Amino acid sequence: MTRAPFLRALAGETLDTPPIWLMRQAGRYLPEYREVRARAGSFVDLCLAPELAAEVTLQPIRRYGFDAAILFSDILMVPYGLGRPLRFEEGRGPVLEPVTDRAGIPAYDPDAFHAAVEPIYETVARVREALAPETALIGFAGSPWTVASYVVEGGSSRDFAALKLWAWRDPEGFGQLMDCLVDATVGYLDRQIRAGAQVVKLFDSWAGAAPETQFERWVVQPTATIVRRLRELHPAVPVIGFARGAGAQTRGYGSATGVTALALDSGIPLAMACALQAERPVQGNLDPMALVAGGTALESETDRIIEALSGGPFVFNLGHGIVPQTPPEHVAALVARVRG
Ligand code: CP3
Repeated sequence: MTRAPFLRALAGETLDTPPIWLMRQAGRYLPEYREVRARAGSFVDLCLAPELAAEVTLQPIRRYGFDAAILFSDILMVPYGLGRPLRFEEGRGPVLEPVTDRAGIPAYDPDAFHAAVEPIYETVARVREALAPETALIGFAGSPWTVASYVVEGGSSRDFAALKLWAWRDPEGFGQLMDCLVDATVGYLDRQIRAGAQVVKLFDSWAGAAPETQFERWVVQPTATIVRRLRELHPAVPVIGFARGAGAQTRGYGSATGVTALALDSGIPLAMACALQAERPVQGNLDPMALVAGGTALESETDRIIEALSGGPFVFNLGHGIVPQTPPEHVAALVARVRG
């Protein structure tokens, strides 16, 4: 069997045509997603309905033939599995009951956790079963710092005041919350891998909010622990790290965590991306708004990225998730350009 191009790139091969998939490739920009989403009831219900979640995972693969599928779920299903109430409100995003002190830190009970998120493992198995061998399946979780931001703030935040104040004032107590998230994340990704995920990705979307010393302690160290423990369980499974906004700290993040590959946001200069690629495969980093704009902006940016990075192990992607106003035909044009 020939190996999936995406897995070959993550193994360090330089391919003539870079494999491509897009962050948030299943989602509201697709009419077929909106149709299933409306049928599912709530977003959390959709994440916990294996047949529907598998269907929306596969929709962008059918439409565009991406080189990888990413499990349809959300990073906040880890707090959900830890018993934290979770809902998504139209126009507001995720809403959680905030954890603000040591007394509120949930306990990680593996049996209760896995029972709560079991349908997600079934989605993984269904998707793997439905995919062709040349299309790889990505499992994922949020990194503890980013997940903690939602758990402590009770939702999205602009300044992360509650998160950072807890980390500054009571690092030991905050560390207990982080340890809980590390343990749950390892258990969760282990089960996704056993269900059929061939690669896992850690989303640290708010890594850039951490000041230097906090970055080391709360972004790098927990991620390094997760990577080490996953490698003990599944030495051959690549781990992609996405420390969004990490800028000049990205190289240190890569070496200290030992992630297999680095997903880069659109703020990383291509010259730096090229230097990072000398150490490990890179993935990225088209601006999602260039994809919305389409036309020459999309073409010239796509060409610039491919020119800079196709001399080494490389996976084409966006620098962040697809936004809902993206015209689906621009995605088709992007795939054609990357493959052409
Ligand atoms: O296609 C895929 O990429 C797989 C599914 C996926 C979703 N969320 C589905 C989703 C993945 C990998 C995520 C990751 C995620 N979720 C992150 C990390 C990546 C990033 O974008 O930075 C974060 C920070 C979240 C938390 C989250 N989920 C927020 C803040 C929101 C609300 C904002 C928004 O985009 O609506 C979500 C909701 C969400 N997760 C939607 C989807 C398709 C939209 C909800 C809907 O369809 O009603």
